[in-house]
Amino acid sequence: MSNKVRQEGEHRIAVYPGSFDPVTFGHLDIIRRAAKQFDQLIVSVLNNTSKNPLFSVEERVALLKEVTKDLPNVEIDYFRDLLVRYMRSRNAQVSIRGIRSVTDFEYELQMASTNRQLDEGIETIFMMTNPKYSYLSSSIVKEIAKFNAPVQDLVPPAVEAALKRKFGNAPS
Ligand code: PNS
Repeated sequence: MSNKVRQEGEHRIAVYPGSFDPVTFGHLDIIRRAAKQFDQLIVSVLNNTSKNPLFSVEERVALLKEVTKDLPNVEIDYFRDLLVRYMRSRNAQVSIRGIRSVTDFEYELQMASTNRQLDEGIETIFMMTNPKYSYLSSSIVKEIAKFNAPVQDLVPPAVEAALKRKFGNAPS
């Protein structure tokens, strides 16, 4: 396979992969910034049954669609394959990952190196998370919502409502 990440005049497609269980303001910040850097950004949810997610893939995709509906070059998808294979199938050259802190770095470096080993034509680009979301994760959001505490500063309203429904704190 070709090593070349970009050819002159090429339509630049990036994939932002993740669990997004659920999407947070931290993810959304990365999505908005990455969408400005590429012709097309595909936000893709890993359909990973081993992780025991709170939201189904369909629910996570629907929430992502709702919160990115104002971004015309952002597409929401899901995948169940190796990331590099999925990216080839979508003709994407770049994988985007957000880094919140040094603790993220080791895992991310391992993943990026693995992906490079699997397919050296795929590039990983890291974006630093906005410092105001550096502590934020989907797990933290679920923990707070489970105890019926406010999450409106952490997730968009559609996600807040979905969490309330999940934890039985709102009428369905
Ligand atoms: O939001 P997450 O859970 O940190 O995202 C991790 C994800 C989905 C990017 C990663 O687990 C992944 O790409 N999985 C697909 C399988 C794969 O390609 N594995 C090899 C690279 S480690």
